[in-house]
Amino acid sequence: MSSRAIHARATPAGRIAYVDGRYLPHGAASVHIEDRGLQFADSIYEVCAVLEGQMMDEEGHLDRLARSLGAIEMHMPLARGALKIVMREMIRRNRLKDGLLYLQVTRGAHRRDHPFPKSYRSTLIMTARSVNMAAVEKRRAEGIAVVTLPDIRWGRCDIKVTGLLPNIMAKSQARKLGAFEAWLVDRDRFITEGTSTNAWIVTGEGVLVTRKLSQNILAGVTRLGVLAALAREGFNAIEERAFSVEEAYAAREAFMTSASGGVIPVVSIDGRTIGNGSPGASTQRVHALYSEFARAAAGASRRTAASS
Ligand code: PDD
Repeated sequence: MSSRAIHARATPAGRIAYVDGRYLPHGAASVHIEDRGLQFADSIYEVCAVLEGQMMDEEGHLDRLARSLGAIEMHMPLARGALKIVMREMIRRNRLKDGLLYLQVTRGAHRRDHPFPKSYRSTLIMTARSVNMAAVEKRRAEGIAVVTLPDIRWGRCDIKVTGLLPNIMAKSQARKLGAFEAWLVDRDRFITEGTSTNAWIVTGEGVLVTRKLSQNILAGVTRLGVLAALAREGFNAIEERAFSVEEAYAAREAFMTSASGGVIPVVSIDGRTIGNGSPGASTQRVHALYSEFARAAAGASRRTAASS
């Protein structure tokens, strides 16, 4: 049996992918072998959470998509309104309740040559998959372990490119070490972020600390949502600054944020217990405020879309 046939068989029946204007059975969807996304990682992506059939932080993801594309001189593959229609159609066709919508834009298929081609037709791919929410909630209830590893990524981590080899190497190393995530450490021993999450600590004084936005980290949409949810509550014990590995070891609480998990407590770093080894009160409060905020925003945006 060919690997493609195996892949197709492993795909849950009815899963639908979108490739360049067409909705196809997931196992039958493909792109050209000279696609620049495949050959050069000349490509941008987004991962959006879907909860109870509603897209979370849709505008934030589309804003960041436009920024990432602009940073590498690529145009939006579709107008924003059309993209939203395809995203909603993917949720509908996949009967997605709780899951993730993956969206990737590449500079298209071209004869292999390094410079950006003068003209190109971008490739737009979307896939959808459901997420085992029980597993996510178990992580949220128990907290997860992280290990710190050197940040060996490039100088533009603010652009959401698919060249993720350093990230997947670090994540795999973390898993080998029995941790769920790796927190990446710069040359000055400051934590930048996780391999696919933003990193946060709560100091002994109850101040929330997360690294300031720069070219060294991704501007997480969830990070932004957490900050907005806290601002709405009038909570201002927040510092956007770098924190060291030692400061993280001594933190009262720690957590990470991403579209795929929301707010997830971190209860051990490099084998050292954080706080009392279980999810802390501040982290749980942040999770509650953020999920309420994100769900309300998603509901409002769906109502606006329905009435326009
Ligand atoms: N990861 N930092 C990195 C390096 C990331 O890849 C991600 C997202 C985040 C969190 O961003 P957001 O809150 O917008 O999801 C931070 C996605 C989920 C992924 O690669 O699967």
